[in-house]
Amino acid sequence: MELKRFLFLATLLYISTSHAAVINQIQLLRPRSGSGGRRVEGLDCLSWRLAVEANNLQGWKLVPQSCEDYVGNYMLGRQYRHDIEVVADAAIDYAKTLEAAADGKDLWVFDIDETTLSNLPYYARSDVQFGAIAYNDTAFNEWVAEGIAPPVPAIRRLYKTVAALGFKTAFISGTADRYTDIKILNLNQAGYYNWEKLILKGEDVHGSSVDYKSQKRTELVNEGYRIVGNVGDQWSDLIGANVGNRTFKVPDPMYYIG
Ligand SMILES: *[C@@H]1O[C@H](CO)[C@@H](O)[C@H](O)[C@H]1NC(C)=O
Ligand SMILES: *[C@@H]1O[C@H](CO)[C@@H](O)[C@H](O)[C@H]1NC(C)=O
Ligand SMILES: [Mg+2]
Repeated sequence: MELKRFLFLATLLYISTSHAAVINQIQLLRPRSGSGGRRVEGLDCLSWRLAVEANNLQGWKLVPQSCEDYVGNYMLGRQYRHDIEVVADAAIDYAKTLEAAADGKDLWVFDIDETTLSNLPYYARSDVQFGAIAYNDTAFNEWVAEGIAPPVPAIRRLYKTVAALGFKTAFISGTADRYTDIKILNLNQAGYYNWEKLILKGEDVHGSSVDYKSQKRTELVNEGYRIVGNVGDQWSDLIGANVGNRTFKVPDPMYYIG
Protein backbone atom coordinates (compact mmCIF):
# COMPACT_ATOMS: atom_id res chain seq x y z
CA MET A 1 0.00 0.00 0.00
CA GLU A 2 2.73 2.42 0.98
CA LEU A 3 4.80 1.48 -2.05
CA LYS A 4 1.81 1.98 -4.32
CA ARG A 5 1.21 5.39 -2.84
CA PHE A 6 4.86 6.26 -3.32
CA LEU A 7 4.87 5.16 -6.97
CA PHE A 8 1.72 7.12 -7.64
CA LEU A 9 3.12 10.25 -6.04
CA ALA A 10 6.45 9.73 -7.78
CA THR A 11 4.67 9.57 -11.12
CA LEU A 12 2.67 12.69 -10.40
CA LEU A 13 5.79 14.46 -9.23
CA TYR A 14 7.63 13.38 -12.35
CA ILE A 15 4.89 14.68 -14.59
CA SER A 16 4.29 17.84 -12.63
CA THR A 17 7.94 18.90 -12.50
CA SER A 18 8.43 18.63 -16.24
CA HIS A 19 4.99 19.87 -17.19
CA ALA A 20 4.01 22.17 -14.36
CA ALA A 21 2.15 24.64 -16.54
CA VAL A 22 -0.08 21.99 -18.05
CA ILE A 23 -0.85 20.36 -14.73
CA ASN A 24 -1.84 23.69 -13.20
CA GLN A 25 -4.15 24.26 -16.10
CA ILE A 26 -5.72 20.81 -15.64
CA GLN A 27 -6.27 21.33 -11.93
CA LEU A 28 -8.37 24.34 -12.79
CA LEU A 29 -10.67 22.24 -14.91
CA ARG A 30 -13.85 21.22 -13.18
CA PRO A 31 -14.45 17.46 -13.30
CA ARG A 32 -17.73 17.75 -15.10
CA SER A 33 -19.35 14.70 -16.60
CA GLY A 34 -17.05 12.41 -14.63
CA SER A 35 -19.29 12.72 -11.63
CA GLY A 36 -22.23 10.84 -13.04
CA GLY A 37 -24.55 10.27 -15.93
CA ARG A 38 -25.19 13.92 -16.60
CA ARG A 39 -25.13 14.79 -20.26
CA VAL A 40 -22.75 17.61 -21.19
CA GLU A 41 -23.28 19.32 -24.51
CA GLY A 42 -25.27 16.36 -25.77
CA LEU A 43 -22.66 13.72 -24.92
CA ASP A 44 -22.18 11.87 -21.65
CA CYS A 45 -18.41 11.51 -21.56
CA LEU A 46 -18.44 8.67 -19.05
CA SER A 47 -20.74 6.72 -21.38
CA TRP A 48 -18.44 7.56 -24.27
CA ARG A 49 -15.41 6.29 -22.37
CA LEU A 50 -17.19 3.09 -21.35
CA ALA A 51 -18.15 2.46 -24.99
CA VAL A 52 -14.52 3.03 -25.99
CA GLU A 53 -13.20 0.62 -23.37
CA ALA A 54 -15.74 -2.05 -24.30
CA ASN A 55 -14.72 -1.74 -27.99
CA ASN A 56 -18.25 -0.71 -28.93
CA LEU A 57 -16.89 2.47 -30.49
CA GLN A 58 -14.26 1.69 -33.10
CA GLY A 59 -12.22 3.67 -35.58
CA TRP A 60 -12.71 7.00 -33.82
CA LYS A 61 -10.16 9.65 -34.73
CA LEU A 62 -10.34 12.21 -31.94
CA VAL A 63 -11.58 12.59 -28.40
CA PRO A 64 -14.84 14.56 -28.78
CA GLN A 65 -14.17 18.26 -28.11
CA SER A 66 -16.81 18.29 -25.37
CA CYS A 67 -14.99 15.44 -23.57
CA GLU A 68 -11.50 16.91 -23.60
CA ASP A 69 -11.78 18.21 -20.01
CA TYR A 70 -13.30 14.94 -18.89
CA VAL A 71 -10.56 12.80 -20.45
CA GLY A 72 -7.86 15.12 -19.07
CA ASN A 73 -9.27 14.92 -15.58
CA TYR A 74 -9.66 11.16 -15.85
CA MET A 75 -6.11 10.59 -17.08
CA LEU A 76 -4.48 12.82 -14.45
CA GLY A 77 -6.79 11.88 -11.63
CA ARG A 78 -7.27 8.95 -9.30
CA GLN A 79 -9.80 7.03 -11.37
CA TYR A 80 -7.35 6.13 -14.16
CA ARG A 81 -4.81 4.89 -11.60
CA HIS A 82 -7.44 2.89 -9.73
CA ASP A 83 -8.72 1.37 -12.97
CA ILE A 84 -5.23 0.16 -13.91
CA GLU A 85 -4.58 -1.22 -10.43
CA VAL A 86 -7.67 -3.41 -10.83
CA VAL A 87 -6.39 -4.68 -14.19
CA ALA A 88 -2.96 -5.42 -12.71
CA ASP A 89 -4.46 -7.17 -9.68
CA ALA A 90 -6.65 -9.36 -11.90
CA ALA A 91 -3.67 -10.29 -14.06
CA ILE A 92 -1.53 -11.06 -11.00
CA ASP A 93 -4.30 -13.21 -9.49
CA TYR A 94 -4.45 -15.15 -12.77
CA ALA A 95 -0.65 -15.45 -13.03
CA LYS A 96 -0.53 -16.90 -9.52
CA THR A 97 -2.90 -19.71 -10.55
CA LEU A 98 -0.37 -20.84 -13.16
CA GLU A 99 2.92 -22.59 -12.80
CA ALA A 100 5.61 -21.47 -15.23
CA ALA A 101 6.87 -24.51 -17.12
CA ALA A 102 10.49 -25.51 -16.62
CA ASP A 103 11.31 -25.11 -20.33
CA GLY A 104 11.13 -21.30 -20.01
CA LYS A 105 8.64 -20.95 -22.84
CA ASP A 106 5.65 -19.57 -20.94
CA LEU A 107 5.42 -15.95 -21.99
CA TRP A 108 3.63 -12.75 -21.03
CA VAL A 109 3.24 -10.21 -23.82
CA PHE A 110 3.18 -6.51 -23.02
CA ASP A 111 2.35 -3.60 -25.27
CA ILE A 112 4.50 -0.53 -24.54
CA ASP A 113 2.74 2.83 -25.10
CA GLU A 114 0.04 3.55 -22.51
CA THR A 115 0.60 0.04 -21.11
CA THR A 116 4.13 -0.22 -19.71
CA LEU A 117 5.24 3.34 -20.46
CA SER A 118 3.03 6.41 -20.25
CA ASN A 119 2.99 9.20 -22.81
CA LEU A 120 0.86 11.37 -20.52
CA PRO A 121 3.47 14.16 -20.34
CA TYR A 122 3.06 14.42 -24.12
CA TYR A 123 -0.71 14.00 -24.24
CA ALA A 124 -1.21 16.63 -21.54
CA ARG A 125 0.41 19.28 -23.74
CA SER A 126 -1.80 22.14 -24.87
CA ASP A 127 -1.15 21.28 -28.53
CA VAL A 128 -2.32 17.71 -27.99
CA GLN A 129 -5.13 18.06 -25.43
CA PHE A 130 -5.42 14.41 -24.46
CA GLY A 131 -6.17 13.36 -28.01
CA ALA A 132 -8.75 16.05 -28.83
CA ILE A 133 -6.35 17.52 -31.42
CA ALA A 134 -5.31 15.58 -34.54
CA TYR A 135 -2.30 13.28 -34.14
CA ASN A 136 0.97 14.93 -35.20
CA ASP A 137 3.48 12.28 -36.21
CA THR A 138 6.46 14.68 -36.15
CA ALA A 139 5.70 16.04 -32.70
CA PHE A 140 5.01 12.60 -31.24
CA ASN A 141 8.23 11.17 -32.66
CA GLU A 142 10.18 14.05 -31.14
CA TRP A 143 8.73 13.03 -27.78
CA VAL A 144 9.58 9.34 -28.40
CA ALA A 145 13.16 10.33 -29.25
CA GLU A 146 13.51 12.01 -25.86
CA GLY A 147 13.16 8.57 -24.25
CA ILE A 148 11.77 9.90 -20.98
CA ALA A 149 8.32 8.31 -20.84
CA PRO A 150 7.53 7.38 -17.21
CA PRO A 151 6.36 3.88 -16.28
CA VAL A 152 2.76 2.91 -15.67
CA PRO A 153 3.37 1.82 -12.04
CA ALA A 154 0.65 -0.85 -11.78
CA ILE A 155 1.80 -2.55 -14.97
CA ARG A 156 5.41 -2.41 -13.85
CA ARG A 157 4.26 -4.20 -10.70
CA LEU A 158 2.57 -6.83 -12.90
CA TYR A 159 5.70 -7.13 -15.05
CA LYS A 160 7.94 -7.69 -12.04
CA THR A 161 5.48 -10.13 -10.49
CA VAL A 162 5.18 -12.38 -13.54
CA ALA A 163 8.96 -12.29 -13.98
CA ALA A 164 9.40 -13.32 -10.34
CA LEU A 165 6.93 -16.15 -10.91
CA GLY A 166 9.25 -17.48 -13.61
CA PHE A 167 7.49 -16.30 -16.76
CA LYS A 168 9.33 -14.81 -19.71
CA THR A 169 8.26 -11.36 -20.92
CA ALA A 170 8.04 -9.85 -24.38
CA PHE A 171 7.24 -6.34 -25.58
CA ILE A 172 5.45 -5.93 -28.90
CA SER A 173 5.14 -2.29 -29.92
CA GLY A 174 4.09 -0.35 -32.98
CA THR A 175 6.97 2.09 -32.39
CA ALA A 176 9.40 2.16 -35.33
CA ASP A 177 12.49 0.02 -34.78
CA ARG A 178 14.79 2.98 -35.49
CA TYR A 179 13.99 3.92 -31.88
CA THR A 180 15.25 0.60 -30.48
CA ASP A 181 18.24 2.05 -28.58
CA ILE A 182 16.27 4.88 -27.01
CA LYS A 183 13.40 2.54 -26.16
CA ILE A 184 15.76 0.18 -24.32
CA LEU A 185 17.16 3.12 -22.33
CA ASN A 186 13.66 4.39 -21.59
CA LEU A 187 12.43 0.97 -20.45
CA ASN A 188 15.45 0.52 -18.19
CA GLN A 189 15.10 3.99 -16.75
CA ALA A 190 11.45 3.23 -16.05
CA GLY A 191 12.39 0.08 -14.14
CA TYR A 192 11.89 -2.66 -16.75
CA TYR A 193 14.70 -5.17 -17.21
CA ASN A 194 15.44 -8.69 -18.41
CA TRP A 195 12.83 -9.10 -21.10
CA GLU A 196 13.07 -12.05 -23.46
CA LYS A 197 12.02 -10.10 -26.58
CA LEU A 198 11.64 -6.46 -27.56
CA ILE A 199 9.79 -6.30 -30.86
CA LEU A 200 9.47 -2.92 -32.56
CA LYS A 201 8.01 -2.28 -35.98
CA GLY A 202 10.16 -2.53 -39.11
CA GLU A 203 10.06 0.43 -41.52
CA ASP A 204 8.74 -1.85 -44.27
CA VAL A 205 5.75 -3.07 -42.25
CA HIS A 206 2.40 -1.66 -43.36
CA GLY A 207 -1.19 -2.54 -42.65
CA SER A 208 -3.26 -2.72 -39.50
CA SER A 209 -1.98 -3.02 -35.96
CA VAL A 210 -4.12 -6.14 -35.53
CA ASP A 211 -2.29 -7.81 -38.43
CA TYR A 212 1.15 -6.64 -37.28
CA LYS A 213 0.71 -7.76 -33.68
CA SER A 214 -0.92 -11.03 -34.73
CA GLN A 215 2.03 -11.78 -36.99
CA LYS A 216 4.59 -11.03 -34.29
CA ARG A 217 2.74 -13.18 -31.74
CA THR A 218 2.50 -15.98 -34.29
CA GLU A 219 6.26 -15.79 -34.83
CA LEU A 220 6.75 -16.16 -31.08
CA VAL A 221 4.42 -19.17 -30.97
CA ASN A 222 6.30 -20.69 -33.92
CA GLU A 223 9.49 -20.26 -31.86
CA GLY A 224 7.89 -22.46 -29.22
CA TYR A 225 6.62 -19.82 -26.80
CA ARG A 226 3.23 -20.25 -25.13
CA ILE A 227 1.53 -16.89 -24.61
CA VAL A 228 -0.25 -17.24 -21.27
CA GLY A 229 -1.03 -13.54 -20.74
CA ASN A 230 -1.28 -10.49 -22.96
CA VAL A 231 -1.64 -6.88 -21.77
CA GLY A 232 -2.45 -3.80 -23.84
CA ASP A 233 -4.33 -0.51 -23.92
CA GLN A 234 -5.72 -1.05 -27.44
CA TRP A 235 -8.09 -3.80 -28.50
CA SER A 236 -5.78 -4.29 -31.48
CA ASP A 237 -3.18 -5.56 -28.96
CA LEU A 238 -5.61 -8.20 -27.76
CA ILE A 239 -7.52 -9.53 -30.80
CA GLY A 240 -6.43 -11.47 -33.88
CA ALA A 241 -4.20 -14.55 -33.94
CA ASN A 242 -2.53 -16.17 -30.92
CA VAL A 243 -3.75 -13.59 -28.45
CA GLY A 244 -2.79 -15.79 -25.54
CA ASN A 245 -4.76 -17.63 -22.88
CA ARG A 246 -5.93 -14.45 -21.23
CA THR A 247 -5.94 -10.82 -22.29
CA PHE A 248 -5.99 -7.76 -20.04
CA LYS A 249 -7.22 -4.37 -21.28
CA VAL A 250 -5.63 -1.28 -19.77
CA PRO A 251 -7.77 1.87 -20.09
CA ASP A 252 -7.00 4.42 -22.80
CA PRO A 253 -9.58 7.00 -23.82
CA MET A 254 -7.02 9.22 -25.63
CA TYR A 255 -6.64 7.46 -28.96
CA TYR A 256 -7.74 4.51 -31.06
CA ILE A 257 -5.40 2.26 -33.05
CA GLY A 258 -7.11 -0.38 -35.18
C1 LIG B 1 3.57 19.06 -35.90
O1 LIG B 1 4.67 19.14 -35.04
C2 LIG B 1 5.79 19.79 -35.58
C3 LIG B 1 6.96 19.60 -34.62
O2 LIG B 1 6.62 20.00 -33.33
C4 LIG B 1 5.44 21.23 -35.83
O3 LIG B 1 6.53 21.92 -36.37
C5 LIG B 1 4.26 21.28 -36.79
O4 LIG B 1 3.84 22.62 -36.96
C6 LIG B 1 3.11 20.45 -36.27
N1 LIG B 1 2.09 20.35 -37.31
C7 LIG B 1 0.83 20.72 -37.09
C8 LIG B 1 -0.09 20.51 -38.22
O5 LIG B 1 0.46 21.19 -36.04
C1 LIG C 1 -3.65 -22.05 -22.96
O1 LIG C 1 -4.45 -22.40 -24.08
C2 LIG C 1 -4.04 -23.59 -24.72
C3 LIG C 1 -4.85 -23.72 -26.00
O2 LIG C 1 -6.21 -23.58 -25.74
C4 LIG C 1 -4.23 -24.74 -23.77
O3 LIG C 1 -3.83 -25.95 -24.38
C5 LIG C 1 -3.39 -24.51 -22.53
O4 LIG C 1 -3.61 -25.49 -21.58
C6 LIG C 1 -3.71 -23.15 -21.92
N1 LIG C 1 -2.75 -22.85 -20.89
C7 LIG C 1 -3.09 -22.31 -19.73
C8 LIG C 1 -1.97 -22.01 -18.83
O5 LIG C 1 -4.24 -22.09 -19.43
MG1 LIG D 1 -0.38 0.91 -26.48
